[in-house]
Amino acid sequence: EVWNPNGKYRVVSTKSMPGTRWIRLLTDNDCRLEICTEKKTILSVDDILALIGDHCHGVIGQLTEDWGEVLFSALKRAGGTAFSNMAVGYNNVDVEAANRNGIAIGNTPGVLTETTAELAASLSVAAARRIVEADQFMRAGLYDGWLPHLFVGNLLKGQTVGVIGAGRIGSAYARMMIEGFKMNLIYFDLYQSTRLEKFVTAYGQFLKANGEQPVTWKRASSMEEVLREADVISLHPVLDKTTYHLINPERLAMMKKEAVLVNASRGPVIDEVALVEHLKANPMFRVGLDVFEDEPYMKPGLAKMKNAVVVPHIASASKWTREGMATLAALNVLGKIKGYPVWGNPNA
Ligand code: DGY
Repeated sequence: EVWNPNGKYRVVSTKSMPGTRWIRLLTDNDCRLEICTEKKTILSVDDILALIGDHCHGVIGQLTEDWGEVLFSALKRAGGTAFSNMAVGYNNVDVEAANRNGIAIGNTPGVLTETTAELAASLSVAAARRIVEADQFMRAGLYDGWLPHLFVGNLLKGQTVGVIGAGRIGSAYARMMIEGFKMNLIYFDLYQSTRLEKFVTAYGQFLKANGEQPVTWKRASSMEEVLREADVISLHPVLDKTTYHLINPERLAMMKKEAVLVNASRGPVIDEVALVEHLKANPMFRVGLDVFEDEPYMKPGLAKMKNAVVVPHIASASKWTREGMATLAALNVLGKIKGYPVWGNPNA
């Protein structure tokens, strides 16, 4: 699909993206935009090489693609200088290879913070209150009357929410769980973020002034402290060598038997084989997963586990957010081509 065929700069998007603002942004600013219409979901390096061709100024790509030396050197040979991921995470991008080839890279932070946090909060509630299991039971026609034991789950109020990685998304998630469910907080953040402390302190004072029990908070000195003490744990680290299999058999064993574990960051943060074993051995332990170790696949056995809620990497999937991500990705590429600042630039 080609927009503004006579545009001066050739920009390729490896996928169609929501909204039209991003298209207008490029076509109103001298770009010829080519949107790949290939039906298969995940494009290979060869597919993308063919899209880049021998003349291309910039590419908007997706987190399912492997952006390394081969693609960045091809983009450089084609006269390109700009690449943007349509995602905040850029573990699929080899930053050093981009640097070597003089390609500026961009990502799309900010617009997906609340949307992603909302999904993590939804998975926390769904897992704690067994909503998906109960929905499947209803649809199977198994409900034959109210029972005292039917789908008894965990009350969130007064329990402790544990956050690992208190950046933008982790902090937004914590605020939702604290304000929404009056949970106490324990968190671990490598970068010593303090933005949560101010919020919880002020919220605690507000509750007190209204005659309610204030929530408590604690900054943990290790991740293990969070795993041992929290009732609901949500993972929000970036994926890199240090966070690969952060949740391993030893750390799973530290968690409470009835804990809820949520992951809307990146799948390889959890050792998924170990997780399946843990779910089998601990039926009261529950997980809510938006991401998987080898997407689009789930490790054997996971799909059968009633104590797992699984959704297909949809944490940022609200219309507003996806249109915003597309616009930021276009702005990143356009910014570099035209010499304006790049919005999200982990390469800077
Ligand atoms: C991101 O932006 O990194 C998300 O995983 C996409 O929703």
